[in-house]
Amino acid sequence: MEFFENYSLKSSNSFGFEVSAEFCCSVTSLNELREALAFAESQNLDVLVLGGGSNLILVGDIAGLVILNRLSGIEVEADLSDAGKVRVTGAAGENWHEFVRHTIQYGAYGLENLSLIPGTVGAAPMQNIGAYGVEIKDRMVSLKALDRVTGKVCEFSTEACEFGYRDSVFKQRDAGRYIITEVCFLLSREINPVLDYAGLRDRFKAQGIAEPTALQISDLICEIRQSKLPDPLEIGNAGSFFKNPVVSIAKRQSILDSNPGLVSFPEGEGYKLAAGWLIDQLGWKGRRQGDAAVYDKQALVLVNHGAATGEDILRLARAIQDDVLNHFNVALEIEPRTFPE
Ligand code: EPU
Repeated sequence: MEFFENYSLKSSNSFGFEVSAEFCCSVTSLNELREALAFAESQNLDVLVLGGGSNLILVGDIAGLVILNRLSGIEVEADLSDAGKVRVTGAAGENWHEFVRHTIQYGAYGLENLSLIPGTVGAAPMQNIGAYGVEIKDRMVSLKALDRVTGKVCEFSTEACEFGYRDSVFKQRDAGRYIITEVCFLLSREINPVLDYAGLRDRFKAQGIAEPTALQISDLICEIRQSKLPDPLEIGNAGSFFKNPVVSIAKRQSILDSNPGLVSFPEGEGYKLAAGWLIDQLGWKGRRQGDAAVYDKQALVLVNHGAATGEDILRLARAIQDDVLNHFNVALEIEPRTFPE
């Protein structure tokens, strides 16, 4: 296995920031992963593991060893307790969207609404990826991860992952401790479409499709995403840059009183507000500070038009946060993780 020095991470982070790693290697097996960790230990290097690099803000060069997780393989097994179910396990380095399309080809349904989300299978549980009414916590049964403290591979049930909205134990208490190696999903042989979000059902009806197939759902989701989210290969970005904030019933009402168009959804004891709507209302869509900009078709997405740095993006983000706080009294939380911290 090769360890590269001063390795450019430009093509390993979806914002396309021009930063480098002191050392970098890519691992394709558990043995290589162990070898990489042993190298880091012998040289006293910090370790950062990257999947697709699609939920990251790299604000500077990374000291230590960056490990590109390229573990590959997909396994399909019948579920012994339920003939209508199938277990599909993806290695952490598999591309998420290709994995979803594979499950559909195998006739294993349930992940179709999560089509075209950038990143890898192993990164998906970190922030409990979700879209169009489905989160991976709804479909996952377990995952395996290498514990850097004990050196052993351990298994996590869905419950043990402590999933929340764009959140998990791997982002919180155990950040940096575990390296996810594979994720297992319990999928259905029969499709149970989730079409309540964003007018999916009406769009199918308009096309004369009463019972869409999983492939048709996946294709429609791809079309919707492509129409409002930038392709990171063309314009650097990390998907939604802010979480949709959850506020109390009273606070949502006070905003609604002066903003009747406010988009919000019930969430737990309160309401989740559409951060994109709040930002859009304040006129940020399409605004640019140098090469850092708010995407012109979706105000929740910040983009790098070429030479922006992580700091440029964070400066723009802070201006948006201040404006939203001053105007709506709502604090926006940044979704991707920042390195070095
Ligand atoms: N809106 C605006 N202006 C905008 C953007 C949105 O008015 O510039 C309004 C829309 O009209 C809509 C509402 O805000 O009524 C919600 O917008 P949308 O359906 O596009 O979803 P979102 O809340 O902006 C969330 C996820 C996305 C996910 C979509 C679809 C978060 C932070 N983002 O976005 O996830 O794809 O729902 O389920 O929860 C990601 O995490 O990277 C991501 C793209």
